[in-house]
Amino acid sequence: MPLEATTWIRKMRGGAQAHLVTADDGHHYVVKVKQNPQHRRVLVNEWVSSVLLDYLRIPSPKVEMIRLTEQFLSAHPEVAISIGSRAEPVAPGLHFGSRMPVNPDRFVIYDYLPDALLRTVGNIRDFAGILVFDKWVHNADSRQCVFFRAQLRDFGASEPRPRKEGFVALMMDHGYIFGGPHWILEESPLAGLYCRQLVYENIRSLDSFQPWLDMVRNFPPEILDRAYRQVPEWWLNGDRELLEQLLERLYRRRARIDALIEDSRSGRINPFPNWP
Ligand SMILES: Nc1ncnc2c1ncn2[C@@H]1O[C@H](COP(=O)(O)OP(=O)(O)O)[C@@H](O)[C@H]1O
Ligand SMILES: [Mg+2]
Repeated sequence: MPLEATTWIRKMRGGAQAHLVTADDGHHYVVKVKQNPQHRRVLVNEWVSSVLLDYLRIPSPKVEMIRLTEQFLSAHPEVAISIGSRAEPVAPGLHFGSRMPVNPDRFVIYDYLPDALLRTVGNIRDFAGILVFDKWVHNADSRQCVFFRAQLRDFGASEPRPRKEGFVALMMDHGYIFGGPHWILEESPLAGLYCRQLVYENIRSLDSFQPWLDMVRNFPPEILDRAYRQVPEWWLNGDRELLEQLLERLYRRRARIDALIEDSRSGRINPFPNWP
């Protein structure tokens, strides 16, 4: 069931000109609208990513479709798209919402951590998992995530002390999978990498990408089908058949996942300091 935005909080930074709102479930959402300056397809990319990442059990924000009503939009003229000096109005309807993992009024969410803290992230191994994903789906952007403090056990960190608190990385911003608006699956050694090499220090061979490598190699077609069926018609503007073909190409690309990962070592710099 779609949610409805109730209060507008602020604009977020970033190329999609997203907005922070609260919705009628009481949570905070970063909303990308259909008319965002990147492309309508980034909403589809975000939605499909979320379905795939849930299956791969890589921590990422919960996503929802968020209705922006006419009343909400007329009460908040700030929710417009700036193109040069023009402000384009946003159409009422369903848009994409990425839920904040904690209430930002009470807890801090970080875009970056200094290296000394980055090393302590409880699910640092998920950077290997998300690279498998990013290579498979051709994320043309570099890897982005947010960090917050949580009970490590709740986020799959292999932490023997059940109540141990620490930083968790939540993998987000998937607007540029499939090459963004282009819906292409290309190969590019640097795409999808995180800006700090230390997250890859535990990678020593292809085996370091397990269990995600096997999960992608044997990816169930039903999950791709689920993603396909969930994408609303309003975001597609007649792209339904193109999306079907894209997901079929993605399904076939599973077979090349080893080569796609190996290829990241052939760029200008090898991102894996311990896998020469
Ligand atoms: N689920 C989320 N939880 C916390 N912060 C988020 C979430 N989604 C987005 N953000 C914040 O909003 C900013 C913009 O979102 P992002 O998806 O990166 O959009 P863009 O495509 O414009 O870069 C991010 O840099 C991050 O700080
Ligand atoms: Mg971003």
